[in-house]
Amino acid sequence: MKTVGRILFLSLMIAPAAVGQRLGTDVLPNHYELRFNPDLEKATFAGHEQIDVDLKKSTSSITLHAADLTVSRATVLQGKTRHPATVTFKPRSETMTLHLKRPLRPGAATIGLDFKGTLNDSLRGLYLAKVGSRRYATTQFEPTDARRAFPSFDEPDMKATFDISVVTDRRTSVISNSRVQSDEPEKTSSKHVVTFERTPKMSTYLVAVAVGEFECSSGSMDGTPIRVCTTPGKKQLTSFALEAAESFLHYYNGYFSTPYPYGKLDLVGIPDFEAGAMENVGAIFYRESALLLDEPHASLRAREDVAETIAHEMAHMWFGDLVTTNWWNDLWLNEGFATWMSSKPVEAWKPEWKVELGDQESIEKAFNVDVLKSTRPIRARADTYDEINEMFDAITYDKGGAVIRMIENFVGPEAFRAGVNRYLTEHAYGNASAEDFWNTIEKVSGKPVSSIMKSFVDQPGVPLLSAVPRCQDQTGSLELTQRRFFANPTLLAQPSDQQWTLPVCLRSGAAAGTGPCVVMSSRQQKLPIACDEVPFLNMNGGGYYVTEYPAPVVQRLAARISTLTPEERMTLVRDEWMLVQAGRAHVGEFLDLAASFRQEHEPAVFDEVAGKLAFIANNLVAGPDRDAFRARIRALFAPLAGELGWQAKPEEGDRTRALRASVIATLADTGRDPETLTRARSTLRAFVANPSSGDPTLAESLFGVAPIGAGPDLFDFYVQGLRQARSPDERDNFLYALIRFTDPALLQRALDFAISAEVPTQDSANLIARAFRNADSREVAWQWLESHWDAVRRKTSTESGTNLVAGTGSLCSSETAGDVKRFFAAHPVAASTAALARAEERIRTCVALREAQAPSLRAWLTKDQMTTR
Ligand code: BES
Ligand code: ZN
Repeated sequence: MKTVGRILFLSLMIAPAAVGQRLGTDVLPNHYELRFNPDLEKATFAGHEQIDVDLKKSTSSITLHAADLTVSRATVLQGKTRHPATVTFKPRSETMTLHLKRPLRPGAATIGLDFKGTLNDSLRGLYLAKVGSRRYATTQFEPTDARRAFPSFDEPDMKATFDISVVTDRRTSVISNSRVQSDEPEKTSSKHVVTFERTPKMSTYLVAVAVGEFECSSGSMDGTPIRVCTTPGKKQLTSFALEAAESFLHYYNGYFSTPYPYGKLDLVGIPDFEAGAMENVGAIFYRESALLLDEPHASLRAREDVAETIAHEMAHMWFGDLVTTNWWNDLWLNEGFATWMSSKPVEAWKPEWKVELGDQESIEKAFNVDVLKSTRPIRARADTYDEINEMFDAITYDKGGAVIRMIENFVGPEAFRAGVNRYLTEHAYGNASAEDFWNTIEKVSGKPVSSIMKSFVDQPGVPLLSAVPRCQDQTGSLELTQRRFFANPTLLAQPSDQQWTLPVCLRSGAAAGTGPCVVMSSRQQKLPIACDEVPFLNMNGGGYYVTEYPAPVVQRLAARISTLTPEERMTLVRDEWMLVQAGRAHVGEFLDLAASFRQEHEPAVFDEVAGKLAFIANNLVAGPDRDAFRARIRALFAPLAGELGWQAKPEEGDRTRALRASVIATLADTGRDPETLTRARSTLRAFVANPSSGDPTLAESLFGVAPIGAGPDLFDFYVQGLRQARSPDERDNFLYALIRFTDPALLQRALDFAISAEVPTQDSANLIARAFRNADSREVAWQWLESHWDAVRRKTSTESGTNLVAGTGSLCSSETAGDVKRFFAAHPVAASTAALARAEERIRTCVALREAQAPSLRAWLTKDQMTTR
């Protein structure tokens, strides 16, 4: 068994040659009848299927997708004639061809196949997931792995209906896309046959089956039954997800003019799962930590993440599932839309969380890739397995989401919603292109949406909008200039003729409310403003661009910081940081701006500032400067920390608790405050001993900082803790903090642990990738990786492999840039070409930034403390 898994696995990790895998369009499927017979003990499965197809032409061969399957019987039935077929496979293009002696006529035919496969351990196709002694057969098909479970026309626009049934032991249950139609004992065995109702027309990548012992809690909304299912023993962790799903279904039924189209909705926690979650029609699958929670003992972040993941996947039921993009090059429309949409129902459910501020973090994730030369346009060619998998990046999700949000701001939420609904109605149960989407929004809103969209979707990069206010003869004006922004000063200095059709909305003066929006469609534009005005050029952070102001204007904005919305404050900090990277501002100026946030009470804004300070501590300061910097941080935030204290007050809201957690973590980590670190450890131990005694939001931060400078005692305490964890989320808190130990010997232990049998494949490489983030661990982690590669690779799935390569982008040293490149050239990781190029560019950008900003940083560190107070 093990050897089979290993061989299979190696074939996944070695990047396959770039072979196009598209099928022709002469044979199209209408309906699949599928029966699976998994053997969980032997880790194999048998399948039988009948596919009703339409032949456009006469043909004596039919090609469809199949990978790692064997076929024992193949026939094609046409009219009353059953044609036996011989089968050939092309593994490199993941196809198989049925060859017939006599040609088939154009028209209807039915393919009949018996096949067999392995329940693999690489988390894709129909795979084996284990927890304790329990075994599960479960699916993950997006983007192109349905073909590993059944021969199929595995392309998103080859939609068909499905009749699915599964034969399995009587004590095992089965979950699939639709409601159970019948569940009958098999007469000759100890098995039962579970048959599901016919699905509506849908894409193969959205088919799902989960076989094994599950426990479910049930609810409903607007007539749709909803269940949250998990492996036995965790049912008490399902109530939060169930309540969220009910609330969101109602929200979406109100937002969309089409009510939920799939009859029932299951949310299933799978014990080993590569992605966070997957939007299978009517049966959304999750990694356990993205679904299950012990609500009273879960941090705000954990609750928000679970809620947003559920909201994201449920948005796909309409956008992605009901209407699917024609091909993977437009994946951004599915994922960008779901990313954009996910904060809405959560905002309606828990307004006090202000999850909409997370949209700014999403923009920043996109910027971090899109300011590089190695970025790509949102829409890009993607034909091979690797190319398609590489599409699941921050450009698809975060830039896609940001651009959709920008359009919604520009046309207004009601016009946008009307356009969305018209698009969904026109293409329901079918496919569409991005043009279909934006042309509909343009038609409904009457605004120039398509030219804006085209300029953002087909061009790479972030626009830089430079704004210079002028005043002449009492007449004020604002001169705007746009060009492409790069984080690298040399690239930014080169002439660029790239420009966008850019909606710019400005908030003028101190007054809240809407300022004018203009569409900038040339390189330069002048706007009339009052002479004494200090306009903010990205109202509510709704636009996808970096704004550059002259230094005195930044100072005046900093002086009226409290008149900006939280989104605008985040935007200002982010943009100023971008300009530091690009050499257009000094880090000293940035730090002065950061200092004006020392009394910031909005946790998302505080985190925005704190994140940059942590980056500086990790990458830009060294030796005695680092200590001086840490001392500055302590002095800066001590008053806020003092005000908040360690103890949550009963009447306090979640966001105040989140602020306390962030401030304490900043003092402990970036400030390395000894007192805070000591107290962090004792508070955390007390919390673990009795979770009801403390604040889970604070505890979550403490998990990450308590290991700093700690010894083997605490390490053992963490390993014990994760073994006994009461929820997947608590387990993650222990697990992912293991790489925060700063003692190199403990770090080694943490890394060895990451590839041990105790850590499931879903977490191994992700855990290692985290160790690259911190200055204390990254060198050790990189050397360890080089010497443990074979073992690491055995526990790496496609997505986590890409994450691992991407993670090396935090290794801010010039020698390592070369090492990383050489190492992954010799040890290629699937779907990571772009991730590697970006990692290398990030390392070099970071090194150049450190050199360029050293004088400014030193000057700031040595200048009189009082001026930063
Ligand atoms: N469709 C994706 C799942 C997916 C990701 C499949 C990558 C294949 C490859 C799903 O809708 C998704 O986006 N999941 C996110 C979570 C979400 C909250 C951003 C994920 O898995 O990270
Ligand atoms: Zn998604």
